[in-house]
Amino acid sequence: MPKVSTKELFEKAYGGGYAIGAFNVNNMEIIQGIVEAAEEENAPLILQISKGARSYAKHEYLMKLIEAALELSGLPIVVHLDHGDSFELCKAVIDGGFSSVMIDGSHLPFDENIALVKKVVDYAHPRGVPVEAELGKLAGIEEHVNVSEKDAIFTNPDEAQEFVERSGCDSLAVAIGTSHGAYKFKTEPQLDFERLHQIEEKLPGFPLVLHGASSVLKEFVDMCNQYGGKLPGAMGVPESMISEAVKTGVCKVNIDTDLRLAMTAEIRKAFVENPENFDPRKYLGPARTAIKEMVKHKLHVLNCVGKAK
Ligand code: G3H
Ligand code: 13P
Ligand code: ZN
Repeated sequence: MPKVSTKELFEKAYGGGYAIGAFNVNNMEIIQGIVEAAEEENAPLILQISKGARSYAKHEYLMKLIEAALELSGLPIVVHLDHGDSFELCKAVIDGGFSSVMIDGSHLPFDENIALVKKVVDYAHPRGVPVEAELGKLAGIEEHVNVSEKDAIFTNPDEAQEFVERSGCDSLAVAIGTSHGAYKFKTEPQLDFERLHQIEEKLPGFPLVLHGASSVLKEFVDMCNQYGGKLPGAMGVPESMISEAVKTGVCKVNIDTDLRLAMTAEIRKAFVENPENFDPRKYLGPARTAIKEMVKHKLHVLNCVGKAK
């Protein structure tokens, strides 16, 4: 099975009431854990690589690992750039074999964001690579203040329509209350579903993307702390909200933090329970299994089990 592009996966996901999981990868164990889970659940898959992951593991190593995953699994897998921050980075990964890119100009003024996305689109499309863009800001915990500030930070539905038309992007990451990392909410988690539905009405059939979608499951935070971690009380997006969002326009859901927590909890446990061990396979092996179990669980939350073939 060759690498696939997000375009064909999103077309099916939009009508099918499910989303594709986009999981961040940094090394072999993470790739193997994710791909084994998708294989067992027969789910389409997006493996995404951030700028930081690419400089940590090196482009060539990650591509070869993913090539092996494609060959062994037979799954439709997208290789996607997560949060590309420049035209040059997008060009480099397109030239280097990625099948999808994100250019994140969400910090720029509206017209500058459009101009940057359009420049990437003009390079990517003739090469068969779709482009994800972002409009609105994924506010961190400190920025969640009041209703009027929401309008300045979250994605404006009218602007979203104009942005898509003028930039030519193929999918759009929207800000409706999620944020990156483990500390998303101070009190009750709240997503602006009304805004999401307004965006969907303005952009019928157009794939939307949810970043910052980890749920920060208490079980794994507690497990980290039980084995010597010092994570403060964390709060993520309840999985019921994610399941709700994927029923309509949200076709791609980004998850990294939940995998990091599952992996770290298992490694901490292995160190505490086997202090005499110094064979990396004896802690990275269980960590890989923890990633696999977490991804299987997420594939059910996203309702994409059985949708690969
Ligand atoms: O949203 C960003 C992803 O969690 C990747 O994080 O830049 O630390 O690799 P990173
Ligand atoms: P989380 O930090 O919630 O896992 O979000 C990951 C993400 O959006 C990657 O782009
Ligand atoms: Zn993100």
